[in-house]
Amino acid sequence: MGRRHKRKKVVEDVVMTGLADKGKAVGRAPSGEVLFVDGAVPGDVVDVLVLRKKKSFGQGIVKEFKSYSDDRVEPFCQHFDDCGGCKWQHLSYDAQTKHKHTMVVDAMRKIAKISTENISPIKGCEETRYYRNKVEYSFSNKRWITEAEAASAEEIMQHPAFGFHRAGAWDKIIDIHTCHLQDTLSDKIRNAIRDYTMENKITYYDPRSHKGMMRNMIVRNTTLGHWMVIVSFGEPEMEIAEGVMAFLKESFSQITSLHYVINQKLNDTILDQDIILYKGDPFIIEQLGDCKYNIGPKSFFQTNSKQAKVLYDVVKDYAQLESEMNVYDLYTGLGSIALYLAKDCKQIVGIEEVEPAIVDARINAALNETENSIFYAGDVKDILTEAFRDTHGSPDVVITDPPRAGMHGDVINTLLTLAAPRIVYVSCNPGTQARDIALLSEKYDMVKMQPVDMFPHTHHIENVALLELKKT
Ligand SMILES: C[S@@+](CC[C@H](N)C(=O)[O-])C[C@H]1O[C@@H](n2cnc3c(N)ncnc32)[C@H](O)[C@@H]1O
Repeated sequence: MGRRHKRKKVVEDVVMTGLADKGKAVGRAPSGEVLFVDGAVPGDVVDVLVLRKKKSFGQGIVKEFKSYSDDRVEPFCQHFDDCGGCKWQHLSYDAQTKHKHTMVVDAMRKIAKISTENISPIKGCEETRYYRNKVEYSFSNKRWITEAEAASAEEIMQHPAFGFHRAGAWDKIIDIHTCHLQDTLSDKIRNAIRDYTMENKITYYDPRSHKGMMRNMIVRNTTLGHWMVIVSFGEPEMEIAEGVMAFLKESFSQITSLHYVINQKLNDTILDQDIILYKGDPFIIEQLGDCKYNIGPKSFFQTNSKQAKVLYDVVKDYAQLESEMNVYDLYTGLGSIALYLAKDCKQIVGIEEVEPAIVDARINAALNETENSIFYAGDVKDILTEAFRDTHGSPDVVITDPPRAGMHGDVINTLLTLAAPRIVYVSCNPGTQARDIALLSEKYDMVKMQPVDMFPHTHHIENVALLELKKT
């Protein structure tokens, strides 16, 4: 007996009111049902084809637009419909920042359960294109077939692709020809490598069989005009690798730091691999204010340099440092915030789990002629202990900037024990930040908060919170 397929439900006249995680719009049906919808923006009225139904909400796609939001704008990228990298390009930048602010307010109200009166208006970007300083491109022997191609009557040609992963399709790559995220030299390098490898019939990686030579390419640049390129090869075919690297070296004199890696593991991360310098310097140099940073191929650096300065100035303002103060900078990366603040305090101690980043942090300390910074490599939850406090002195201010998952429970408990008078909490995920603020509220009040937009056209947002120890 054949399986019976349930017909999917269509909910009519849903008014979209807000933006939710992963760029979906959220709205309510006339019946009160909450729906998360791909392809709509706040202000649209749509009929929704419900693809998934949960107890208290549904998820779906737009079946038909009944009316369009006044906040809609024409997306500027030719890949907008397929790429998913800049999901909010069809929304005016004013509306984007308004909704990001609302996301922070909602997280603090619903999860941290704190007053949201002291959340300042978001600091938006002056430049909403070409703002990224790091882009990662992938190769695949199977490109993503666009919706327009699939719908057309013409025969579809399968060929390799070099660009970005299609959201939700880990084995398919969208062939990117123009991208507005990084300086246009990035486009030129990517497109030239595509032409060279296609002409020379060099194989592209097959993410299913894990075979193929061209696997990945990371392009990083700085406001000082330095460029780093790291090419990842899937096979140890050194003659072919040499050809690709020589091509890049000869074609792009702008590349100041050129590397490759042979990655035969099942995953793409190169943090645990030997990255080999092919030409130029081992790092690129960035400058924020008076502070300079050597950035090595394995080190994290904020991906929007201009807004990183805006973000760090908020941190500096919230930290209210004085020359006698002792400061901890948790999740320090290559010492970025620590070194930005070092001249304003007596001592600053940074902790970071990626060892090469700590090597960079120490080089950066010397580069900036600061002698009052100390850096440790390791997991914050293991290193930040009472014994650590006994060695380095009680902190007057703790700066913390964890990854999206937020802080480990043990770190929160240690912070409650250390009871520093002030914590400045930088986060790229208001949800986990709100959770951690709720846990810290046993001893801390949230005094003020500043959202900073670093990623126009995406749902991502940075948020800085100032927490002060409750007076007993
Ligand atoms: C959001 S970045 C912030 C880096 C730095 N504060 C900055 O502004 O550039 C988070 C950093 O935490 C590091 N990290 C992640 N988990 C960690 C852990 N458990 N212990 C120590 N560092 C960690 C990452 O490698 C990354 O450098």
